[in-house]
Amino acid sequence: MPPLVSIMKKTINYIQNIKESSISYRVQLSKNRVMSLNALQAKDISIDSEYVKLLTKWRNIHYKWFFSWVKVTHESTYGWLKQYYVPSPSDIIFFIEDKKYNKFGCMAVYNISANSCEVGRFMKGDSNAPKGGMTVALNSMLNWIYNNLKVDTVYLEVFESNIQAIKLYQRCGFVIKKRIPLEVIENDNTKSFQPIQDAQDSELTAHAFALQMEHKQQDSTIDSSHQ
Ligand SMILES: CC(C)(COP(=O)(O)OP(=O)(O)OC[C@H]1O[C@@H](n2cnc3c(N)ncnc32)[C@H](O)[C@@H]1OP(=O)(O)O)[C@@H](O)C(=O)NCCC(=O)NCCS
Repeated sequence: MPPLVSIMKKTINYIQNIKESSISYRVQLSKNRVMSLNALQAKDISIDSEYVKLLTKWRNIHYKWFFSWVKVTHESTYGWLKQYYVPSPSDIIFFIEDKKYNKFGCMAVYNISANSCEVGRFMKGDSNAPKGGMTVALNSMLNWIYNNLKVDTVYLEVFESNIQAIKLYQRCGFVIKKRIPLEVIENDNTKSFQPIQDAQDSELTAHAFALQMEHKQQDSTIDSSHQ
């Protein structure tokens, strides 16, 4: 079997095993467990679960920082998780918890291939969240990615106007690779920002710009272990 195919098979099995496990999967962010990353698993997903409620609430608060502007409900979040997230072998959401297991934010890894993966769905939900908590969590998630998914590049896309998010990514070692002009496509009650196909004059006609940012594996000093 070609090595890349075999690596992907291992990764797919790894993600599926986490999602289907009946035991919670947590990545501890320090030895004395100040914070942890809690993987969202099939067992956590029901219409009235805390996870579905938090994702719905945070997505509606922060909708304007995502490329698709849509109002979500518990039902639509639950439907998406059941239909797309649970069966996907290439998508994993982590909730970030403080030492009392309060969930104060989330982030996700998806589009996993043999060499690279994308990260996104960064949301700080709780105004009482520890300052710098998202930075610690993202550094730890990067560590987890390089240790477990065996990719060498992690990328993301962000609105150029999202200064707070860009600062977070730069603190964690992401660098800007590309600036992408976007146009708005409106459908029913959804507004989505998509790359302009016709490159000519796109700088002038763009409604907004996205930045593509990239992170390469480097030595990490973060201590994270599984529980
Ligand atoms: C993007 C987002 C997650 C960033 O969160 P954040 O609060 O900036 O991230 P952190 O928790 O790491 O906190 C950062 C602050 O803590 C500080 N900090 C970082 N590490 C620290 C540490 N170890 N000790 C103390 N402070 C620290 C930083 O300097 C920064 O300070 P500043 O806000 O004065 O610049 C948040 O703004 C958010 O939810 N935005 C809406 C959704 C969104 O835009 N998502 C991204 C879509 S691409």
